Amino acid sequence: ALNVSRFLREHIRTVPDWPSTGVQFRDITPLLQDPQVFRVLADAFVHRYMAPGLRPDVVAGLDARGFIIGAVVAYALNVGFVPIRKKGKLPFTTVEETYELEYGNASVEIHTDAVTRGQRVLLIDDLVATGGTMLAGIKLLERLGAEVTECAAIVDLPELGGSGKVRASGHSLFTLVDFE
Ligand code: PRP
Ligand code: HPA
Repeated sequence: ALNVSRFLREHIRTVPDWPSTGVQFRDITPLLQDPQVFRVLADAFVHRYMAPGLRPDVVAGLDARGFIIGAVVAYALNVGFVPIRKKGKLPFTTVEETYELEYGNASVEIHTDAVTRGQRVLLIDDLVATGGTMLAGIKLLERLGAEVTECAAIVDLPELGGSGKVRASGHSLFTLVDFE
């Protein structure tokens, strides 16, 4: 039987010293490039979120790599997709969350009508590092009254502490591949 986690791990490229010295960048582009691997990846999420108890009303994806996987999963589940974007990109009325980066801050936004009160949302991104992006996404969705039923990512970098922070906030987080 195919071990999905091991199979996907073998198709993630590690780029040393990018974007800065000492960083081992986990590059998911090879997962998307190979159609068979892309299907295994997408189906891993689709299979999980087809289950009646976990099926969301809508998928929210985080800018930008969360859009790629999030849109495919939403399409396969036959639910809508909403983007959470970096500040200044969304044209209609938005709410904003600012969070800390290693140097400085970042802000993400969502349209105020992207979700409705009580909607069950799957929040998805490619990777959890410090967790700042995922936690900001949770806050935006909850400010609009939605219920984040689960957060998901392809990759977890547990040493950076983000997955622990997301879970400590009381939210469920599902990831496919860990890199220590
Ligand atoms: C990366 C990654 C996550 C986030 C994880 O995105 O795709 O969204 O950082 O880091 P965190 O857990 O420390 O918040 P990036 O900001 O590089 O944007 P991109 O997807 O537009 O390349
Ligand atoms: N890979 C991709 N995105 C990231 C990483 C990484 O290693 N660290 C923070 N964001």
